[in-house]
Amino acid sequence: MEPLIRVEDLCHRFDSKLVLSQIGFELFQGECLALVGKGGAGKSLILKMICGLLRPSSGRVYVFDQEIAHASEASLFALRKQIGFVFQNNALFDALTVIENVKFPLIRAGLNDGEATRQALGCLAQVGLEQAASKWPNALSGGMKKRVCLARALVSKPKLLLCDDPTAGLDPVTTQRIFRLIGETQRQLSATVILVSHEISALRQLCERMLLIDGGQVLFDGSFEQGRLCSDDRVSGFLNRGMSACF
Ligand SMILES: Nc1ncnc2c1ncn2[C@@H]1O[C@H](COP(=O)(O)OP(=O)(O)OP(=O)(O)O)[C@@H](O)[C@H]1O
Ligand SMILES: [Mg+2]
Repeated sequence: MEPLIRVEDLCHRFDSKLVLSQIGFELFQGECLALVGKGGAGKSLILKMICGLLRPSSGRVYVFDQEIAHASEASLFALRKQIGFVFQNNALFDALTVIENVKFPLIRAGLNDGEATRQALGCLAQVGLEQAASKWPNALSGGMKKRVCLARALVSKPKLLLCDDPTAGLDPVTTQRIFRLIGETQRQLSATVILVSHEISALRQLCERMLLIDGGQVLFDGSFEQGRLCSDDRVSGFLNRGMSACF
């Protein structure tokens, strides 16, 4: 079986500063990967490169068998229809209502307004926000915004779901709810998921594998159990601290 994502020798610089170095990994259809690491490690950059929002300085990224680091904007547009992205900073359109935000990917893909509204309302119901459909984003709480983002990411039934810290700053109940929704989505759509989060305990329940990024490099790629027992203190230390933070 061919991997759904293949990242090879990915490097990125901002001016002279090397922020990603020789990143390489593969991800197969249906896998759920936890992408973890300290703040500034390079997690968000990797997600942006996977959907072609940022072009790497060097290296290759294959998604659905297409090389995207050098792809045209037209082919990236087609590719992104199959990718749902929950942005770390939400990236909701302030000038659009909640329902308009959620149906935006469908309208952009050419669906008629009636059908787009129907599907968007279905997704809002899934995240428990159908009552908020006509509200403006700035009238929502942080947790509600995150759930709108998740609804927008799910509305086109993506084959690949990229979630960048989808529960940052949320209360434990909403956090649990969001992780449950991501797990349900993965099962329902047989989606492949990359989940960036610092919630190690929740990640361990959802993801069979983790990629630990440290200083722009892959420090570890394997199961949580292997990571916990890893002889490299940076790996086991990171995981054990993350786990103990839950008690
Ligand atoms: N536009 C930019 N210009 C310059 N440096 C940047 C830019 N975007 C990111 N960086 C740098 O690249 C590195 C990786 O950033 P990234 O946002 O991927 O970190 P992260 O792992 O997602 O961190 P966090 O957990 O805090 O979200 C950081 O050192 C950051 O300062
Ligand atoms: Mg980030």
